[in-house]
Amino acid sequence: MSSTIDYAKKNQDRFLTELTDFLKIPSISTDDSRKGDVRKAADWLAGAMKKAGIENVKVHDTKRHPIVYGDWLHAGDDKPTVLVYGHYDVQPPEPYELWTTPPFEPDIRDDYLYARGSCDDKGQLYIHVKAAEAYLESEGRMPVNVKYIYEGEEESGGESLEAFLPANKELLAADVALISDTSILSAEQPSITYGLRGMCYVLMDVTGPARDLHSGGFGGSIDNPLNALCHIIAKLKTEEGRILIPGFYDKVRPLSDDERKVLADYPIDEKVWLEEAGAPALWGEPEYGLAERLGARPTLDVHGIVGGYTGPGAKTVLPAHVHAKVSMRLVPDQEPDEIKELFTSYVNKITPHTVRVKIEAEHGAPASIVDYNTPAMKAAARAYGEVFGKEPVYGREGGSIPVVGEFQKHLGLETVLMGFGLNSDQIHSPDERFYLPNFRRGIQTAIVFLKEYAKLA
Ligand code: BES
Ligand code: ZN
Repeated sequence: MSSTIDYAKKNQDRFLTELTDFLKIPSISTDDSRKGDVRKAADWLAGAMKKAGIENVKVHDTKRHPIVYGDWLHAGDDKPTVLVYGHYDVQPPEPYELWTTPPFEPDIRDDYLYARGSCDDKGQLYIHVKAAEAYLESEGRMPVNVKYIYEGEEESGGESLEAFLPANKELLAADVALISDTSILSAEQPSITYGLRGMCYVLMDVTGPARDLHSGGFGGSIDNPLNALCHIIAKLKTEEGRILIPGFYDKVRPLSDDERKVLADYPIDEKVWLEEAGAPALWGEPEYGLAERLGARPTLDVHGIVGGYTGPGAKTVLPAHVHAKVSMRLVPDQEPDEIKELFTSYVNKITPHTVRVKIEAEHGAPASIVDYNTPAMKAAARAYGEVFGKEPVYGREGGSIPVVGEFQKHLGLETVLMGFGLNSDQIHSPDERFYLPNFRRGIQTAIVFLKEYAKLA
């Protein structure tokens, strides 16, 4: 065992150099012009898995971006099988000008590795590739059987993987899924995420006149679609965050007493949270605490409004066609399709007859809750405890990882979310970074997890 950890420690600088190469590939899945780069990242990853000693590595083509599979299955039939998941695609890096160093030219400053995807999720998925290498190079074997599945579409809907799972049940059969794509509470306090929010993403199109009109010539007599869109958006929720769509909260599952206790012990500090966000004040539904607002309450957010003139100087038009991107983060048991219907009928109702609105769903995924009393969860807790020197706490996080629900649905698998990000890692933002001690401890935690899981399963 210690020889595996020793190997990981001795080789950690090389591991970091390799990760840096991976991060140079701009695998932005939502951007069709980057299709070749996403492919390149898949091939790079497949090569790295083979070099690590992972077997049966294959890049599976899909309708969109490739899925990379590999396994090592020689622990014995009496040993359990872990299915490791991660995603090698990344979010778009814009706005470029806010990056201190370019997003695809990884840079190390003060114990952080800066690059798009450094934390979410290339750095975190690479942890498991290197844990495999450490075992195979030092002991020639792993304590359990391990399968790896890495997708390239997580940040843009993940439809290909959702189709791949039911079609490849045997290939992916396992006892538990393991994902490193979440955060821990702080570098000193590890935490295990047992709940993630779901997602219903919609595009709203508002149209009015047949062409842009002079705002002096027509203003006051013809409605301005951009003004109308703002009125619609303003009616979606109250200033305190209560969503005004009728029926929106009907299916929200109340917290159980046990969960309330678990969340009450989640030592999330409002002051630290505010510092991490760099915002002037906290915000949210007054009757809920921070831990509940983050993971246990649904949200509605506008991500972008496009329309009208945004170039330099002033131009006076009533824009003919505007749109907005809106998402709702869902909690158990809200259904994305149902929420989309509720959203659509409400927006149709509040849209004035002076403009037309069209709503399209971009993607959706239900929220997920995993059982925190399984042997694999206990193994994860032991691993964090051993490597970080402190027992983990349990909490819900607000982001979404659609595959967690899909593993439950298609493969009957529970997931352990063993993340190593920090909330200050600026994922999806300029200057995304990965805290290097967490990369190193992550590899060690992954190593200990496999050993402990072999004992407990
Ligand atoms: N790694 C994140 C999910 C995450 C973020 C978990 C923060 C916990 C805390 C993941 O890659 C992600 O960003 N997912 C998307 C999914 C969406 C496009 C369906 C998200 O949450 O926006
Ligand atoms: Zn991610």
